[in-house]
Amino acid sequence: MPEAASNPIGVFDSGIGGLTVVRALMERLPFEDILYFGDTARVPYGVKSVDTITGYARQIADFLLHRKVKLLIIACNTMAAVAYQAVANLSSVPVLDVIDAGGHAAVQATRSKSIGVIGTPATINSNAYNRAIHSYDTGIRIFSQACPLFVPLVEEGWFNHPVTRLTAEEYLRPVLAERIDTLVLGCTHYPLIKPLIQETVGPEIRLVDSAEAMADITAHLLAETGLGTPRRSVPDYWFYVTDVPLRFQTIGEHFLGRSLSRIELVKW
Ligand code: DGL
Repeated sequence: MPEAASNPIGVFDSGIGGLTVVRALMERLPFEDILYFGDTARVPYGVKSVDTITGYARQIADFLLHRKVKLLIIACNTMAAVAYQAVANLSSVPVLDVIDAGGHAAVQATRSKSIGVIGTPATINSNAYNRAIHSYDTGIRIFSQACPLFVPLVEEGWFNHPVTRLTAEEYLRPVLAERIDTLVLGCTHYPLIKPLIQETVGPEIRLVDSAEAMADITAHLLAETGLGTPRRSVPDYWFYVTDVPLRFQTIGEHFLGRSLSRIELVKW
């Protein structure tokens, strides 16, 4: 077994969105230690330039690699869409990202071959989902919509707020007009408002969130490479944030349904 097997998995996002992936990992891989990084001081990333996002992604990956993670998970569609290669180039450990996982799950879910994709402006402009979906099936029609206001609303904890509901109706109207049967939540913040989005689009439309697909892919990778932890004890979870740990703690605990004792503020 590789020596690194006992090391933690590194997961990162611009804020709290990546916790949707952490939750899926905790359920799927209950003995793995996880080290999470949320760049709460600089969120949102999705409205920033490719150069800026790439610089941030490299900085976070470097931080996690110095803490000896055995695997890096880019739990942020925006960073995965524009900076996957930059992170992979500097990483000595495998790098997984959410976009391929979500694209594949959407192709499996659609019956009408009409898929909607919502994400941040950076993700939508990158066309990363179109490439991922078409790599599985070129016959699928894709309708994309950038939803820049969703991330600040989620970071604010407005999961079921009238303002979020109105915003969702406004963003989703054009996508729904295209008669899609599947909608990809192409941002890890969006599963936090999944019930609200489901109510807005109606029960007939399947929502694809990449968190669970991501956990499955991670489990396979660990099994294939022998990198799964040999320990069968209660795992450790560490959370690093760049701003206001208390707010992260309140929202994070609400979402993960457990107390987050190890939250550390990182000052670059
Ligand atoms: N959760 C992120 C994503 O999946 C980041 C959003 C942002 O920072 O704008 O795209």
